[in-house]
Amino acid sequence: MATTLITDIAELVTNDPAQGDGSPLGVVHDAAVVADDTAVRWVGRAADAPAADRVVHATGRAVIPGFVDAHTHLLFAGDRSAEFAARMAGDAYDGGGIASTVTATRAASEDDLRTLLARRVYELRSQGTTTIEIKSGYGLDVVTERRLLELAGTATEETTFLGGHVVPPGVDRDDYVRLVAGEMLVACAPFARWIDVFCEPASAHAFDGDESRTILQAGAAAGLEVRVHGNQLAAGPGVQLAVELDAASVDHCTYLTGADVDALAGSGTVATLLPGVEFSTRSPYPDARRLLDAGVTVAVATDCNPGTSYTSSMSFVIALAVREMRMTAAEALWSATAGGARSLRRSDIGRIAVGGRPHLTMLDAPSHAHLAYRPGVPLTRPIELAERG
Ligand code: NIG
Ligand code: FE
Repeated sequence: MATTLITDIAELVTNDPAQGDGSPLGVVHDAAVVADDTAVRWVGRAADAPAADRVVHATGRAVIPGFVDAHTHLLFAGDRSAEFAARMAGDAYDGGGIASTVTATRAASEDDLRTLLARRVYELRSQGTTTIEIKSGYGLDVVTERRLLELAGTATEETTFLGGHVVPPGVDRDDYVRLVAGEMLVACAPFARWIDVFCEPASAHAFDGDESRTILQAGAAAGLEVRVHGNQLAAGPGVQLAVELDAASVDHCTYLTGADVDALAGSGTVATLLPGVEFSTRSPYPDARRLLDAGVTVAVATDCNPGTSYTSSMSFVIALAVREMRMTAAEALWSATAGGARSLRRSDIGRIAVGGRPHLTMLDAPSHAHLAYRPGVPLTRPIELAERG
């Protein structure tokens, strides 16, 4: 198999503390990497690099692990820019707008959805993202949810069944929970790795703690692994339910109690923060420092969706994490790569280490700090070595 040597790397972020200075980012200066299209084969100082079939000179640039965007809703049709504009003029977000995306998504043809997905996946990948989790959740009937998951599976291994996104308008809540945990789950489980639910206290649209538990436990019994949308609109049962069910991740975490932070700190559940949502809904940002200082594993992701966060840029998310959530530049990059990998319970991605997937992103900058230092500037470029998943 052909090998590529990427050399003259000014700053290589490996996320392998055994490399470099022993910090979590495992930074190596004047570095090189050898990879083929299935795995990284060698990591070290450029002066010691072995020969390879092809050479890429990264002169003066940084190389980082590809971003792991562990929370997206890429499969949807329609447009909600007017809802965003109204929100910027003072309206609040409550999840009610999801229904309009459901109507547009149900009406879209298979070909339209395939094209929309391909464009969005291209948009993410061209900005340095190498792993994308994709949720269903804009079908909310058996046929459309299954169709969305089948399509998602053409783009990624990380597919998530989110029939429990909201109760569709005009449908009885109890009937809908039974459908999601029953017939819809049976139809969708073969096409999903994960089950997710939008858990909020006292929401007209999302699911309360008991409803969420019913849906998640049914998913787990069907062999799916658990992740949760929790504590986005208010403090509530989402975080503690996620910990109780050993969810891989609880996402949003905008409103947390001390008990929530304690529960996360003693758990194997990652807190995935989505600051594009707070930006686009003009909400307070999650208290990332409190989570990090308590020892919670933190990931950051885009939540790319038409309602609360229509960004595909992990660089933008990193800039928000640093400026608005007071994460250090190093913490934000770790959370966008290794943190995302932890939230997907993957050890083959999110770092640059021998035997791991060859998912590398080059920066048109000498150090990773430029991701937050130069917000809005397209610094990332993929290094094409392999198929991504
Ligand atoms: O992650 N909170 C629930 N779901 C999405 C928003 C979906 C939408 O508004 O279309 C989120 O923020
Ligand atoms: Fe989401």
